[in-house]
Amino acid sequence: MKFLVTGGAGFIGSNYMHYVTSKYPEDYFVCLDALTYAGNYNNIKDLEDKDNYKFVKGDITDKDFVDELFEQEKFDVVINFAAESHVDNSIKNPRLFLMTNIIGTQTLMDASRKYGIKRYHQVSTDEVYGDLPLDRPDLLFTETTPLHTSSPYSSSKASADLLVMAYHRTYGLPVTISRCSNNYGPYQFPEKLIPVVISKALNNEKIPVYGKGENVRDWIHVIDHNIGVDLIVRNGKVGEVYNLGGHSERTNLEVVKTILNQLGKSEDLIEYVTDRPGHDLRYAIDSTKVERELGWNRTYTFETGIKETIDWYVNNTDWIENIKSGEYKKAYKGD
Ligand SMILES: NC(=O)c1ccc[n+]([C@@H]2O[C@H](COP(=O)([O-])OP(=O)(O)OC[C@H]3O[C@@H](n4cnc5c(N)ncnc54)[C@H](O)[C@@H]3O)[C@@H](O)[C@H]2O)c1
Repeated sequence: MKFLVTGGAGFIGSNYMHYVTSKYPEDYFVCLDALTYAGNYNNIKDLEDKDNYKFVKGDITDKDFVDELFEQEKFDVVINFAAESHVDNSIKNPRLFLMTNIIGTQTLMDASRKYGIKRYHQVSTDEVYGDLPLDRPDLLFTETTPLHTSSPYSSSKASADLLVMAYHRTYGLPVTISRCSNNYGPYQFPEKLIPVVISKALNNEKIPVYGKGENVRDWIHVIDHNIGVDLIVRNGKVGEVYNLGGHSERTNLEVVKTILNQLGKSEDLIEYVTDRPGHDLRYAIDSTKVERELGWNRTYTFETGIKETIDWYVNNTDWIENIKSGEYKKAYKGD
């Protein structure tokens, strides 16, 4: 089968590309990415020699380009990881998020309809459910929790999800959606909490923590997310939404302290800063459906996963320095 994977130079997408190109030598994977500031060709450069893989630079909102690519490649399956993904940026520039996350999704789905794709999979987020109170640990997001968003980012992702379900109902497009909690692991752009903290701690710089650091996230290793996406794409039921969660709720402060502790750094580096506007309090995901129906489960505990992840960043300081200096923008030698 031939797969189109969008956003494959980003954090989760690049981990996905590594996973599937090794696991399925008989399938063929085209990685499409616009290489925005968050797309890093270094993440996937080592795939260049693989026979079942190719990279294409392009924008999912560009209808003519997308149509031409579908016409040429005759994909069987489309998996859409491409997105603007940083909440803080969405507060500064919502329009870009609406373009990429909504119009980009529509453009891919229109081409999927036109060229008779067998499966369109949308990679979504638990943020579409809004947040949960801190004092109700019994509450979890299920697939039937109403969409109730807080930021322009989560609103754009929720809008895309609604559109995906509408394309299924109206046009019969064979879709699935996965909604996952906060990911951590290798290749995460150093604007997100975990790589920011590691990078700053290694340089003995102050570590900004929003508010009192009480916000709770449900952390999942990126490999476990990707195993789930792959299972849903191959075995999930058309028209269904599947939640994927880490079952590892931690406050931001706990995460920061875990990192400082492993790196042998002082907690005095922590600096509390003005909270993010509209900051979601708590996310927690119920993944019972995908566990029961598709046999998915996590392979990492948070303790093992975070330790391995910190080690990865410590052993790959060049990767982060390359981003900080802007050198990473030169990694792609194509046009
Ligand atoms: N990071 C998380 O914790 C998390 C959790 C749940 C869901 N998600 C979702 O997973 C997906 C991937 O997230 P991520 O953290 O890897 O994001 P990321 O920002 O690291 O990567 C996004 C990738 O999309 C590419 N891209 C952006 N605009 C594009 C466009 N117009 N055309 C083609 N490519 C474009 C970028 O170049 C980049 O490579 C997103 O859809 C996100 O909403 C992320």
